[in-house]
Amino acid sequence: MSHQFATLTAEQRKELHEIALRIVAPGKGILAADESVGSMGKRLNQIGVENTEENRRLYRQVLFTADDRINSCIGGVIFFHETLYQSSDDGVPFVKLIKDKGITVGIKVDKGVVPLPGTNGETTTQGLDGLSERCAQYKKDGADFAKWRCVMRINESTPSQLCITENARVMARYASVCQQHGIVPIVEPEILPDGDHDLKRCQFVTEQVLSAVYKAMFDHHVYLEGTLLKPNMVTPGHACLTKYSAEEVAMATVTALRRTVPPAVTGVTFLSGGQSEEEASLNLSAISSCPLVKPWSLTFSFGRALQASALKAWRGNRENQRAATEEFIKRAEINSLASQGKYCSDEEGSGTTGLCHYLSSYAY
Ligand code: 13P
Repeated sequence: MSHQFATLTAEQRKELHEIALRIVAPGKGILAADESVGSMGKRLNQIGVENTEENRRLYRQVLFTADDRINSCIGGVIFFHETLYQSSDDGVPFVKLIKDKGITVGIKVDKGVVPLPGTNGETTTQGLDGLSERCAQYKKDGADFAKWRCVMRINESTPSQLCITENARVMARYASVCQQHGIVPIVEPEILPDGDHDLKRCQFVTEQVLSAVYKAMFDHHVYLEGTLLKPNMVTPGHACLTKYSAEEVAMATVTALRRTVPPAVTGVTFLSGGQSEEEASLNLSAISSCPLVKPWSLTFSFGRALQASALKAWRGNRENQRAATEEFIKRAEINSLASQGKYCSDEEGSGTTGLCHYLSSYAY
């Protein structure tokens, strides 16, 4: 056959493209609040709070009760299964709280990483079994996009070709199943920052991984306009002795994307990968203002880099809820600026709270 088997109608494609565009509209990014019960336990442990269902609900309430200031900063929120069916203190379902702000609801659908036999400790991600049925249910329950995370690690012998190929394949399968149900898939091939590798090595591996992802997406007839990519920024390993500027990180990141990600992909929403809140925002701003042609929306889909200050301010205390919510709003506003290339650090004490002296198309 000289053309692909038509799996999506024109209406389905239109719906998917519109959802993707809405999530990454100018100035908007994603709040990744989809920590699994286990990951949430690690976060709560840091602030001395017990990992119970009620405490997880109370913490998510801190984020989801932010006022209308976030409406122009956040285009999508990624939920974990448990959170999708929880409500605020006054009984409003979290899904309704978010949708009423005009924000799109997303859901983590992968079931975590598992060992990939035949490799040196590498992993793949499980969750394809029953995915079609779960997507159909999540769509009914208000989710319009999904997330699936795969994890790769850089060392002498990794990521192996097997690991790259298998993870690309599983992400493409996931993406095509989501699209059948009107759910925009976020494809997240995360390359971990662990190790002492330099910027160039991370760039090379990112290019290797992303080119395999888009070959698999093509092979599985995924409709790229109805997808988002959630990659790592190209950064040196945590233990690398060489330091790089935000501009160098930005140039390496945008170069890797330009070489591997088709312009048809609607948006690239970076994970923060353990960077500090400030570092992630500065790098995002440098990426957004990098002087290379960038055919996709570039923005954030941060977990830790949007939540760290809020979590610290909350500490499990009801009296701290408002202050914690304010911390989250502050980070959302900063990252909204950063996604437009307009954020620079306030460390020099300019008192301008991070808004660069930036003027679009400035003319004297
Ligand atoms: P971080 O921004 O904390 O890396 O989390 C993003 C995410 O969704 C990881 O899957």
